[in-house]
Amino acid sequence: MASLVPLLFRRLSRTLTTSVRRQHLLKSVSQRQTYQLQINQRHWFSTLSKCPSSIHTFGSICRHCSSANTEKKVTFDLTDDHVIARLQDKTFHCSYFWLRDHCQCPECFDVNTNQHLVATDTVDPDIVPKTLNCTEEGMNIVWPDNHETCYPWDWLLENGPGQHLANGNGTDHKHVLWDGAALQSQLPADVGFDELLSTDEALKTLMETLYKYGIAFVCNVPPTEEDTQTAVERIGAILDTFYGKMWTFTADLAMADTAFTNANLDSHTDTSYFYEPAGLNNVCPSLQVLHCLHHDGTGGENPMVDGFRAVDTLRRNYPEHFDTLCRIPLIGQYIGDSRNLSTPYYTIALNPITHEIEHVRFNVYDRGPLSHLSEEDITAYYKAFRILAQEIRDPSSIYYVIPKPGRMMIFDNWRVLHGRKGFTGKRIMTGCYVSRCEYLNRLRTAANIRV
Ligand SMILES: [Fe+2]
Ligand SMILES: [Zn+2]
Repeated sequence: MASLVPLLFRRLSRTLTTSVRRQHLLKSVSQRQTYQLQINQRHWFSTLSKCPSSIHTFGSICRHCSSANTEKKVTFDLTDDHVIARLQDKTFHCSYFWLRDHCQCPECFDVNTNQHLVATDTVDPDIVPKTLNCTEEGMNIVWPDNHETCYPWDWLLENGPGQHLANGNGTDHKHVLWDGAALQSQLPADVGFDELLSTDEALKTLMETLYKYGIAFVCNVPPTEEDTQTAVERIGAILDTFYGKMWTFTADLAMADTAFTNANLDSHTDTSYFYEPAGLNNVCPSLQVLHCLHHDGTGGENPMVDGFRAVDTLRRNYPEHFDTLCRIPLIGQYIGDSRNLSTPYYTIALNPITHEIEHVRFNVYDRGPLSHLSEEDITAYYKAFRILAQEIRDPSSIYYVIPKPGRMMIFDNWRVLHGRKGFTGKRIMTGCYVSRCEYLNRLRTAANIRV
């Protein structure tokens, strides 16, 4: 057994004045000590679930890990208001308040619903543990009211302050930015319809391809609306918008949208006039599905462009224009069919946590008048837009898809722009949208991608 390191904390009286508390802090910091806990690596692996074997129990010798039977150190610095823990190569700065707020006991966290049960504002902002013990399993704290918490090491490595950023989404899953030639040479084989419906492996492959490239195909889909829907529902619930769930359309101008014609359509993202997330009929779709059910004419190819690559190029070559498109809001609108939708949005939206590019909206058709911008911002926007548009329209950026009955295309409408060449003859298309939440859910559950 590793040694226990009991640390006694002097409980602060809640009646202490601020100045007295400062004195206590100074005294405590000056008495700071470093504690070391030796953990045998075979235990370490079993504790942290890093070992490929899941059958060994704590304390047993694992045949996978026994060759790496070296000592690992876990060290702690304790200060007046937080603990600095070093586990593996990571350093955590956990305030005692954060620790109490993240108590994992059944009273504070419901493992069945994964819901946090602590009302954060009811925790004493100056809370200090009564005792803190470190064992092979984790860090154990007894709080002033004798409430007890254990933070397993694997939980801390996963959820400690700053770990979400440090862990990223794993090295195996990255967006692969592409131009037309790159996607041509790299796009994985289509997933088969029957395999998609019957195996988790095919669903995993589909989700990995979607995450990596923002576009994927399912082949051998019977050319009907119903079978297209069945294939899509392997990913998630189909979004119900004012277009309906499944939209099967032809060039009859059934809706007030150029999509319902046979005209040429420049590269764009859809539904920039929808909010995300703001209710059933106002969600900006993430995944878009297009499946040609019938075509007896010529033309109609879909030019597809990786919007992430285009704005990444913009960021590297023209950072000031990149910033402009992150900063200046546009208005997306849909006016017609007795509807008047109007939504402010940014051409480029960054993830608020990782600051990576998360969402590109590019739709000249649906853009409202720039009546809300200053003259200065209008000038900046036009300059930035022109450079981005050149990148998007460059022939080398485009990957052409020839729609065929039986081959269903799925793409991330937050990333990949689509268009359509004009066509002749009768053509029937079906398609639908899937919300961002459903898409991300399936990435996590089917492909184990941290997003
Ligand atoms: Fe479209
Ligand atoms: Zn608790």
